[in-house]
This record gives sequence, structure tokens and C-alpha cells, in this order.
Amino acid sequence: MNCYEIRGGRPLNGRLAVQGAKNSVLPVLAAALLAPGQSVIRNCPDLTDVTATLDILRLLGCRVGREGDAVLIDATALSAAEIPEELMREMRSSVIFLGALLARLGSARISYPGGCELGPRPIDLHLSALRALGAEIREDQGCLRCGGRLEGRKLCLAMPSVGATENAMLAACGCEGVTCISGAAREPEIVDLQRFLRAMGADVRGAGGSVITVRGGRPLHGATHRVVGDRIAAATYLCAAGAAGGEVELTGADPAHLTVFLDCLEEAGCRVRTEGERILFSSRGPLRGISTVRTAPYPGFPTDAQALLMAALAGGSGTTMFVENMFDSRYRHVDELRRMGADIRASGRVAVVSGVGKLRGAFVQGTDLRGAAALVVAGLGAEGVTRVAGLRHIRRGYDGLDSRLRTLGAEIRERTENTRNESGDRRHRRWHQRDETAEEDGTGACSDPYSKF
Ligand code: UD1
Repeated sequence: MNCYEIRGGRPLNGRLAVQGAKNSVLPVLAAALLAPGQSVIRNCPDLTDVTATLDILRLLGCRVGREGDAVLIDATALSAAEIPEELMREMRSSVIFLGALLARLGSARISYPGGCELGPRPIDLHLSALRALGAEIREDQGCLRCGGRLEGRKLCLAMPSVGATENAMLAACGCEGVTCISGAAREPEIVDLQRFLRAMGADVRGAGGSVITVRGGRPLHGATHRVVGDRIAAATYLCAAGAAGGEVELTGADPAHLTVFLDCLEEAGCRVRTEGERILFSSRGPLRGISTVRTAPYPGFPTDAQALLMAALAGGSGTTMFVENMFDSRYRHVDELRRMGADIRASGRVAVVSGVGKLRGAFVQGTDLRGAAALVVAGLGAEGVTRVAGLRHIRRGYDGLDSRLRTLGAEIRERTENTRNESGDRRHRRWHQRDETAEEDGTGACSDPYSKF
């Protein structure tokens, strides 16, 4: 089992470029199958969720390659409409293929998606949106069979679900006529998906607001797209610098996507200045408790940043109340933070954090993506050594979390536990194994980007 070993208490200083957004690249990659021809997706982070998405595209008949930070998808030969259960279970966002396959091929067969570590995550809103567009969906022993003739209609989402909005947008591109999605989610990643769809020739308007209009049935083609910066990865590095102290400049993420979150950091005593796509951050001394943090759909406080901010505040001073309104089981990091000496009481949707001045290093286990990253944040601010297990969660959403933190001066290394009987040589080989794997995966230099696939 691998873990991060962190020697806390070193301030973070320097510049960092933020990766492309995980929550943007996944629907964009699914959208690439809407049209024959090649799409080039730049600023594509190297994540296991991206690898899983590319596996699905390949299985459906697309050619897929990588050239540096760009992913190339040629969806000309797309032929299959069925995604097997083992791939669907890899991640929840695989459900996005439903709308894309219906639009391109008129049918889709998938099983229920996985990735449910935040409590029950139904897909009823996805299905009712697609049904509203004329899709016939039969649910049979965990398998969804979808077909029917799609037609542009008015549909209203009962909740601004990010995934259901994206699914409806993709399906609407294959509908004859005009689709009007009201009650849509307003996240920046939806605006990014709209940008890509428009580059493909689709007529989509309104993303960023709560009504999105799609004039379907237009001929689409492959396109080039640069994925928007990852606002949650940016929040992670800012929380890390908040917990450890220091001065950090982030580039590549739009500060306008983080307004409410940055306000919280300022209230906690940090200095934040923004210039275009640059965030200049400094923190001296412990963070102070702040007024109640309530997670909400965008532009409210992002649920994905809740654990990260909580970890930073747990080692500060003063009391902060969190109210998690988006997911039922999003306090699983709390028990692990307590192992580090945190004073947090959680009950139902509410958690109350009383800063203890300094957390102390411990062995802790991450059980979901942002919860695991929050333990890294806590470890960077703690006294002594923290070991964070559960790296498979972190790899789903962070491209080189440890190496990026090292560029800021953090002492963080990936270690293999149970290495007592291993020789130094074997340990050294293991240490470098990931680089070799990256080359085998085609992320190294390669003249024909498709040749490895
Ligand atoms: C996306 C993000 C995730 C983020 C979440 C909320 C991606 C890949 N993931 O997830 O990181 O935490 O938005 O900002 O973009 N719901 C239903 N029925 C449905 C769909 C959703 O009841 O059919 C509920 C969910 O249980 C949840 C709420 O709606 O309580 C919001 O979920 P949603 O916006 O759909 O999240 P995801 O798209 O899964």
C-alpha cells in the first residue's frame, strides 16, 4: 500500500500552475464522441478518471492518443453503444456517456455508474431529463437500455445537478428542434462544455445562467479545446498554504470561479490579491475561525472545497461551523482529522470545528477524493510526520499533487508501506516505476500519438 509521507510545518512559497479541471475534462471527452473526426483536448490533466474515460472511448470504437498535455480523440469509427459494468463502476461521471451516445447513435446500454463514496448518488434527474427529450429508458437488473427518437423540448431540472445538466446538453445536440433546459446548474465547467460544443458546431447558449438553450440537429465536427483551470485544485493549494503559512502565486485558474471561497480565506486572516488568471496569496500565523460555511450549488461555496477548508481551519484558532447541503456522507475526513488532534464535532449536515493551534502528525486514511486531499492539507500544517493512505482517491482528481507541493517547498514523498524487508534497490525501482508507466501509457515522447493504442 502506498501513502504520502509528509513532514509538516514548512511554509509553502513560490509559483504554481494549476492543472486543467477534472470536472470539465470528463464531460468534454464524452462530448468528443458526438461527431466524426478528430478533437484535440488541451490542458488535459493526467488522472485515473481521465484514463478510465479514455478506456471507455476506445472501447466504443474511438481512436485515442496523447501528446504532452493534449488528448486526441478520433470518433469517426464509433460503433458500439454499450459500456460494460466494470468500466461504468470506475467513476460516477461515466453516466455522462448516456446523453452523448443517444445523440450520436440513438441508443445506449450502460449499467448504473460507480463512485458513490459520498453517500447515495441517484441518477433520477439524468433519466427524467433524457425521458423528457423522448428517450425510452428501461431499467433491468442494474442495466439501463436507452433508445427512441429524441426531440427538442422544454425540460426543467428539479435540482441544479451538474451531471444531469451536462447529460441533457449532450443529448439535446442530437435532438431535432430546440431544447430549453431550465433549473440548470451554473458551474464554470458547464460553461466550458458549452464552449467545446460550440467549437464543434453546436448551437448552445445560456450556460452560466439557469436556462440553457440548444438548437439541435446541426452537423457537428471535431474541434480543438483548452480545458478550463481546476478551481478545486487551486483551492487545495491555497488551503495547503493557509495551513502551512507562506506566500504562493497560482496561475491557470480563474479567481472569478472562486469568489466565495477566497472571501472565506480573507476572513480567516489570509491576504488574497487577484490579477487576471493569477491569485497572489499569503498567510502568516494561524487561520482564524470564520462565519458559517454553507455548501451550495455554484456560485455558492463549493462542496468539493468543504473538507479542504475544514482541514486548514482545524489547525488554526477560533470556531467555524460547516453546513454540508449537497451530499449526505461528506464528513468522512472528520474522524481522520481527529486522529491528528483536531477538535471537530459532526452531526448530520453540521460540523463544528474549533481550532487547536497545531495539529500533530498521525497515520490517516483518505476514503474519498477531496477528503484524502484534505488530510494532505492537514499534514502540511501539522507538527511531525503524517502518513496519508488512500492515494487511489487522490489520483482520480490530482495530477501530481505531491510533486506540485514539492515545488512550493513541501516535504512530501510517496512511500510504499511494509518496505521493511525490501532492499534499497527495490525501493528505488518502485519509486521510479510511475515514470516508466507514464512512458508506457504514451504520456512520454511519441511520434505517432495514436501508435500506442
Ligand atoms: C459534480 C461534480 C462533483 C461535485 C458535484 C456538486 C463532476 C464530475 N463531479 O457531481 O465533484 O461535488 O457536482 O458540485 O462534475 N442528485 C439527485 N439526482 C440526480 C443527480 C443528482 O438527487 O439524478 C443530487 C445529488 O445526490 C446531490 C445533488 O443532486 O445531492 C448535486 O449533485 P450533482 O450536481 O448531480 O453532482 P455530480 O454531477 O454528480
